[in-house]
Amino acid sequence: MTTASLESRIEGFFTAGADAVGDAHALEAFLELRTALEAGTLRSAESDTDAPTGWRVNAWVKRGILLGFRIGALTEMSGGGALSFLDKATYPARSFTPEDGVRIVPGGSSVRSGAYMARGVVMMPPAYINAGAYVDEGTMVDSHALVGSCAQIGRRVHLSAGAQIGGVLEPVNASPVIIEDDVLVGGNCGVYEGTIVRKGAVLAAGTILTRGTPVFNLVSGEVLRATYELPLIVPENAVVVPGSRAVTKGKGQQWGLSLYAAVIVKYRDDKTSLSTTLEDLLR
Ligand SMILES: CC(C)(COP(=O)(O)OP(=O)(O)OC[C@H]1O[C@@H](n2cnc3c(N)ncnc32)[C@H](O)[C@@H]1OP(=O)(O)O)[C@@H](O)C(=O)NCCC(=O)NCCS
Repeated sequence: MTTASLESRIEGFFTAGADAVGDAHALEAFLELRTALEAGTLRSAESDTDAPTGWRVNAWVKRGILLGFRIGALTEMSGGGALSFLDKATYPARSFTPEDGVRIVPGGSSVRSGAYMARGVVMMPPAYINAGAYVDEGTMVDSHALVGSCAQIGRRVHLSAGAQIGGVLEPVNASPVIIEDDVLVGGNCGVYEGTIVRKGAVLAAGTILTRGTPVFNLVSGEVLRATYELPLIVPENAVVVPGSRAVTKGKGQQWGLSLYAAVIVKYRDDKTSLSTTLEDLLR
């Protein structure tokens, strides 16, 4: 079955709304999509040099993921014992074998169906990877990290402890969060609302990026912001740290308030590489 024909079947069943529930052909189409997502052959967003951000959103794939939620009946997924788990039958947790080449260290982590984990990915417990997410080779997902639905994580990325990568399913044309190759996302960072972090960038511990976060670039003198058409984009190799800016409007000045801001203090240099050297032997 070609991708084009899978796309048209998914679109048809998505448009059918409630009529797709209980339709064996809809389930079949969804399962084909889910298998392709897990194999990494289909993605909710992919690199595209013609796109303004360098990434193209495959809205039909996201519609297919939503179709899976619509047609999946709630089912018990407990392994027995005192703990009980309930979720859509279409989205059970994934299971892996040593042949998959990933490491999921025991202790409460879960990878949901429809997520792709490339070889060499290491997941420290507890961590969660949601449906439609794509995690590329050699990436480390540390304890308490979240990779939200449809988020795209590149090669050799380090998602440090407590890093939260937001997910986005709707609206279907909304770009997911994208973390490109060789990025270090420090501890307790939060990257949300379609933000793109370009190759090699470093987010210092505690940096939060959303569509509303201004990023002050001390090197270029610009202030980076999301626009109506484009998400917030952190430039390649930028070193971003959490900062604050004075409030100059209304009572803010009188009250001496500051608001959160992110600051690009420099671009990655030898010192940064030393500060972010990872324990290769542990991998
Ligand atoms: C960003 C980071 C890698 C430091 O990079 P670096 O290249 O060594 O940075 P430098 O020390 O040269 O600092 C450059 C400037 O940024 C400031 N800065 C650096 N890290 C900062 C931080 N976390 N918050 C605020 N300012 C910071 C420095 O004070 C310096 O400014 P100054 O010249 O005005 O003093 C480091 O701070 C960091 O956050 N590492 C990630 C830690 C982590 O989360 N580990 C997780 C393990 S699970």
